[in-house]
Amino acid sequence: MTTNRAHHEVRALILAAEGDAGQVVRQVGAPRTAALLVDELIGRADLDEVPGLDRTPITVAFDLAFDGGTVSHHVVAGKSAEHRPGAPAAAHATIEVDLLELLRATYGAWRAPSCQNLRIRWNDIEDIAALSSSMHVFHVVQRLVRGTTERHADLSELSLRNGSDKWGLHYYTPHYERHFGPLRDRPLTIVELGIGGYGDPAAGGASLRMWKRYFPRAVIHGVDIFDKAALREPRIDTIQGDLSDPAFLASLGERIGPIDIVIDDGSHYCPDVIAAFRAMFGLVRPGGLYVVEDLQTSYWRGYGGSSERRDDPATSMGYLKKLLDGLTHEDHEAGGAEPDDVARTLTGAHFYRSLAVFDKGVNQEGPSPSWIPRTRMTYEEMTDVEWGGDGLKADSQE
Ligand SMILES: C[S@@+](CC[C@H](N)C(=O)[O-])C[C@H]1O[C@@H](n2cnc3c(N)ncnc32)[C@H](O)[C@@H]1O
Repeated sequence: MTTNRAHHEVRALILAAEGDAGQVVRQVGAPRTAALLVDELIGRADLDEVPGLDRTPITVAFDLAFDGGTVSHHVVAGKSAEHRPGAPAAAHATIEVDLLELLRATYGAWRAPSCQNLRIRWNDIEDIAALSSSMHVFHVVQRLVRGTTERHADLSELSLRNGSDKWGLHYYTPHYERHFGPLRDRPLTIVELGIGGYGDPAAGGASLRMWKRYFPRAVIHGVDIFDKAALREPRIDTIQGDLSDPAFLASLGERIGPIDIVIDDGSHYCPDVIAAFRAMFGLVRPGGLYVVEDLQTSYWRGYGGSSERRDDPATSMGYLKKLLDGLTHEDHEAGGAEPDDVARTLTGAHFYRSLAVFDKGVNQEGPSPSWIPRTRMTYEEMTDVEWGGDGLKADSQE
């Protein structure tokens, strides 16, 4: 397995962003930190929407103050946007800001202040003749700077913009907003099974890029049976492996560590869906989520499913429906099955069209109190109950 060093660096920077990040920046290296931050800002800038860049590329320099010196980096925004270390020969504009301030604004929590001391030097601001051919420099710079403040991209729009089928073919994004919205600001580890693009090494990654934009502080790991290393970015890691291979599934925990969100959009073959859930639900942190997409295949013979045997635990839906009994395992009467690790840590289950979301936590509220009648009360018994402001009175609780 090849490793992607960038996501370790970027994760360290995200975790340090709000505190005293100087030491981490020195470890990662100030020029490397500058490169990672500028790469992130380009990713948030949607520069392909700025007209005129193919005719007149724009160069924007970053002068980033750190440890008494200046780290320079620059962006050349043309047909595509590239960034390079060092100062450019000539720049249309220069963004001057403290490196740690830029780090905090880019990778800190949403309430972190934006760059108060950021200044922009427009190089041709007094020369209207020179400026007239490169007016779009304003759009480029505004969009690059916006990456330090913009937080509210809508997931359906991001899905469309990135070419994912999570809205339009499927209608998953509103459900995702409901479950993922409260977590957006966190430094998350996200795993999506199934990167897309199948055998084409350069194709796919639409949803990985969507998640990267939606979760500005997350590192996203994509898993696919094909090698997708070409799609790696500082906050996007790719791992090659077959979800049908138990040894590969077992190795993911060691490779990735604890996970906040798993999204299974892989083969959709029922045995793979079940094996992945069994292997990976345990890796999800308390408070995290496990999502399974495209559950329609649970009803299709060609995916190991069945439209007749709908409760068969060998089908994805049959297996997942069975988990619901685990939610109330503490209230099962004698003879109920022993709870397994999933039952002990499953705290919620939400089903939508072809999509299911499972909450990970600690499912140990304790059984219902013994004084709650285990047999339905008769009308007379209910009539005799004395109901005080604080619940059933002791003498009516037998
Ligand atoms: C539906 S696509 C994923 C789309 C992507 N998540 C998105 O929303 O943009 C499914 C991917 O799963 C991969 N896949 C299929 N079978 C697999 C297996 N057994 N193990 C790992 N990946 C597999 C395919 O190569 C394909 O790229």
